[in-house]
Order: sequence, then C-alpha cells, then structure tokens
Amino acid sequence: MSSNVYQPSADFVKNAHISGMPAYEALCQEAEADYQGYWGRLAKELITWKTPFTQVLDESNAPFFKWFEDGTLNASYNCLDRNVEKGLGDKTAIIFEADGGEVSQVTYSQLLAKTCQYANALKSLGIQKGDRVVIYISMSIDGVAAMQACARIGATHSVVFGGFSAQSLRDRIEDTGAVAVITADNQVRGGKLLPLKSIVDEAINLGGCDSIKNVLVVKRSGADIAMTAGRDVWMAELADSQATTCEPEWVGAEHPLFLLYTSGSTGKPKGVQHSTGGYLLHAALTTKWTFDLKADDVFWCTADIGWVTGHTYITYGPLALGGTEIVFEGVPTYPDAGRFWKMIQDHKVSIFYTAPTAIRSLIKAAEANDAVHPKSYNLSSLRLLGSVGEPINPAAWEWYYEHVGGSCCPIVDTFWQTETGGHMITPLPGVTPMVPGSCTLPFPGIQAAIVDETGKDMPNGQGGILVVKRPWPSMIRNIWGDPERFKKSYYPEDFKGKYYLAGDGAIRDEKTGYFTITGRIDDVLNVSGHRMGTMEIESALVSCTELVAEAAVVGRPDDTTGEAICAFVVLKRSLPNTEEGKAIAKQLRDHIAKEIGPIAKPKDIRFGENLPKTRSGKIMRRLLRSLAKGEAITQDTSTLENPHILGQLGQAY
Ligand code: PRX
Repeated sequence: MSSNVYQPSADFVKNAHISGMPAYEALCQEAEADYQGYWGRLAKELITWKTPFTQVLDESNAPFFKWFEDGTLNASYNCLDRNVEKGLGDKTAIIFEADGGEVSQVTYSQLLAKTCQYANALKSLGIQKGDRVVIYISMSIDGVAAMQACARIGATHSVVFGGFSAQSLRDRIEDTGAVAVITADNQVRGGKLLPLKSIVDEAINLGGCDSIKNVLVVKRSGADIAMTAGRDVWMAELADSQATTCEPEWVGAEHPLFLLYTSGSTGKPKGVQHSTGGYLLHAALTTKWTFDLKADDVFWCTADIGWVTGHTYITYGPLALGGTEIVFEGVPTYPDAGRFWKMIQDHKVSIFYTAPTAIRSLIKAAEANDAVHPKSYNLSSLRLLGSVGEPINPAAWEWYYEHVGGSCCPIVDTFWQTETGGHMITPLPGVTPMVPGSCTLPFPGIQAAIVDETGKDMPNGQGGILVVKRPWPSMIRNIWGDPERFKKSYYPEDFKGKYYLAGDGAIRDEKTGYFTITGRIDDVLNVSGHRMGTMEIESALVSCTELVAEAAVVGRPDDTTGEAICAFVVLKRSLPNTEEGKAIAKQLRDHIAKEIGPIAKPKDIRFGENLPKTRSGKIMRRLLRSLAKGEAITQDTSTLENPHILGQLGQAY
C-alpha cells in the first residue's frame, strides 16, 4: 500500500449516487442499527418483485442463510422487461465489438426479444425450471442472451469459461447434471479461430454426460462442424421461428440463478451456488454505488462471462439498472496493445473496469511503443476506473490513474470473490479518499473484519484472516451437491461456524482502518486474476501417469501475472538433461492444457529425483516457495530427509 492519498474531485462527489463520507457513514449506521431493515429497504428499491417478501433474512439453518425467501421475482424480467416498461426499449443495452473490430448493437427491446426467443427455444426442448444448462461460449450478445434466457425460464445456468479444456467441461457437466449445453461453432480470439463445439463433443465423448439431451449451437464463424442428429441443434434454426415474448417464470428468491465453478484448496473445483433475489440485489446495488452508474454512461467491464465478474458486471448488474455496456470478444493486445484505449475512444466509454494483469501488460507495451500508449488516444470520455481480481500494485495503480484516467478519474479497487457475488470491500467513488494498493473500506452493510485463528478481532496494523461477520444477500448459498464442503470451506469450526471465511489474509491501516488484501491463506493461486488450486494442478500433473511419479505446485510473484505457477516434478525416469528437460516440460504443459486448460500451464517446471521432505515424509513447501522465487535457502533444513534434492531443483524449464 502506498502513502499517497488521492481525493475524488469535488465535482464527482457532488454528482455521485453516494456523495461524501457522511452519506457513506449514514448507510453503515443504518445497517448497523437495523441490518434487516437496511437490506429490506434496498431490496424493495432496486428489485421488482412479483410477490413481495415478508421476511428479509432467515438464519434458522445457519450457515445456510435465506434472504427474501417468500418473495418471487425473475432476474431476466428485472434486467430487460422492466427497462422496456420504463420507456428504455430503444436505449442501447449492449454494444458488441468483435475480435476483428466489427461492431453491432442491441437495444433493450431487441435483447428482450432475443432472450425470449432463446427461452422459448429452450422450452421447446423440454427444458424447464430447476434444470441446469451449461453455457460454453465466448463473449457475445448471444452469450448474455443465453444466460438471460435460462434465468427467464428458471433454469440454472453454469457458464464454463471458453478457455477450459474438454476434461474440465466434462467434469462440470457431470457435476451439474445439466440437460443441455449452449455453445457456438467457434470462438475468435486474437485473430485466431478456436474450437468450441468440437470441445463440447469431446467432453461428452469422455463419458459421464448422460444427462445431456441437447447441444444448442450458435453460429459464430460458419466453419464446418459436426452435428449429432437428434442431439445437436442450431440455435438460430430453433429460435428464429419462436415468439419474441415469453412469460417469465416467477421463482422464489432463493431459487439458484447460477452455478459457477471455482478452484478451492482441494483437487476438485467447487460449484458455487448463487440465489436469484439476494444476488440480483447486490449486483444492481454495487453497480449503482461502486460504479456510480448513470443513465448516459457507457460501461465497460472487460471480464469474460465465464467468470463471476462477467456474471455480475456484464449480464446482471448493468442491465438491471438499464445501463449501456460494451461486450468485447477479443483480447487486449490484438491487433495491438492499444485495443482497449481505441475502444474507449471509439465507444466513448465512461466507466472502465479491468484487471491489474491487463494493466501491467499494457504498461509494458505502452512504455515500449508510443503508438499504443493511452496518450495517443482520446480517453476524455472516462470518468471512473475500476480494478478487480487481484491486488493492484501501487505503481500500476498510479499509471492507470495518470495515463488512463488523466489524473481525474477515481479508481475503485474492488475486492470480492466468486462466492461473494459482488463487491465486498471497495472505495465508493464519490466518497472514499483512495490509497493505491488498498481496497479501502467495506461496502455499506458488509461486516468485513480481520481476526486471528480463534476468531478474535485483530487490532488495526496487525494482519490476520479476513472474515465477514454477518451473512449478506449475495453470498454463496451452497457448494452444489456438497453442503458439508460448503460448511467446512466457508464456516469452519475455528470460528464456531459463525464467520464467513474468505480465504484471504488482510491488514487494516492503523490510522485509516483501510483494508489491504495480503493474498490467499490457502492453497489457491491467483494467476492473471484467475483462481487456480495448487492441488488441482498437482492432480493434473500426476494424471500424466506415464511420466510423473509425484508433483508439488507453488506460486511465486510475477511482475505481469501477479503470481506464476511453479511445478516441481519427480519423473518416473532418471533426471533429464537440458534438452530432454525442455521436451518433457512441453509435454507436461500440453497435458495440463488438456486436463484443465491453457491458463493452468506452469510458467516454471523443475525436476528432481524427489521432493524436499521431512523425515516423516511431508513435502516442505516453504522450501519450494523459496526455490521458486530463486531465493537462497536460509531456512532451517535440519529436518530435511534429503537435502541434496535442493540442488537438483534449481533449474527451471
Ligand atoms: O484473493 C482474492 C483475489 O481474488 C480472489 C477471488 O477470486 P475469484 O473468485 O476468481 O474472483 C475474482 C473476481 C472477483 C480473492 O479471494 N482478489 C479479488 N479482488 C481483489 C483480490 N485481491 C486483492 N484485491 C482485489 N481487489
């Protein structure tokens, strides 16, 4: 955290939805004084209910909390119909820019019509409330419409990021028991045509996907793909003839809107289950307060809809507020590293939300080449910037502030997680003096705190474990099919099952009380803002049974990606020489790409005849972390069974 303090401009403060520190404090006090009253008031203000709720929070079966349980609503109605009913039918909902630069737009009326046709198409296949639908598609209006269509008929969607492998997709299909997959023939990224539909075929052929009755295919490239008769249908052929209206399925507030898989500290990713009412409330509320979204803003969240950020701040939050947003298919460096800046200029983006990794890689490119420096573009439309997914280092924050925001846009460094559904700790742009590297203060109503291992509050200035002391509306409801794991992961007995355990360490500033996230306290890595479990990567490595006897994975700091994956591998054969080492490392990376996806490929792979272990056989991970960082080993190695191994593990491939 830096010691520089940046104030929002007087003008920003004056016009913001939440204006000035007293307004923030008043909201915190309102929540403190009457927690249920506070959330109940906001739920009535931001959400249109079909049947109003009579109880805000039910804690009787903690930690399986229920919010607004007897209220009924529909998320798609709240995002689409009600905007049309308010007279926003002709307002642009989504401006889509394809990888190659082609731009198309949909208004709220058009997005509603498309969503209804998709919803009717799903219904025509017999898909109904409570069914799960996996969506494996790249960034597109169709992707958003597919999610909205599921919400409309009460089907629970589970979006799988298009970079995940067939094996990962298969695992998710099996775990959800989905009845259908919505995909596209291809995806286009960085000028390259990449497969989608054929990966779905591969996933289904791996077995365990008997629940799948249909695969709906959106046409993206028009390239030749195989279609399985009786199972696969072209979305357009089915949807185009459907009615453009579809009565929403009114669901209870606790109805699962979506499942989203994320990595934990064990090998198997967990299906984070979100609700409809509480989730949508926080999606809308945080979009309004953290992003200060107004009617004439052009909002751009660069995340993929395969991640939670894309769910909350593309598919649900901005649309629930009737905003105009950008959906971008491509990558920040294609055709060059000025792509983001050019798009902000072309579409007059006013609110821009991206990840520190993207900023860091664009800084490098801009410093090497003026043509892709933000100064070569007109970014005067910007009024607010955001950061998400990983800690932002002060140097990157300051560059973002100065060169992208022209030293006049507040930056909201938003801390949250797949499990939290929306922002938890973040500046509010018209309120909070900003300190680079700090996510500052809890969102009003969120009872974030730092405690020790026994749940005792830590004083400011001393780091500890980040927890949330009270349930909040958009919190994870369950791990799909595994309530025991839910309890163990998030409401552990260490805190008597009372506090939500975020899995991060944090520290509060002695004077300001500002939070700074110090990183995960479990075996989860954050690589380019993507969450990866070390055990998940280890399992993938040892599944390469012809080569690998044992593997351990740790993270090390990386200038661009935040953290980098380092794998220590014991081969079934003798130690390789340099040439062999390179070839085997490539083979292992390809294997991981196949098992999980290219995002999980280790940056470094090191080989040893064994791993450093204690006499009782425990892997000494702290030594591996030092080796990964290239540090001299200063730790006590007297308990090490096999110290000569350390020398072998020096070379990274
Ligand atoms: O370690 C924290 C980090 O990302 C983790 C959550 O990852 P995921 O569920 O994939 O969600 C990412 C998008 C919300 C957290 O446990 N993290 C997220 N935002 C920040 C952050 N670390 C520091 N600062 C942030 N603003």
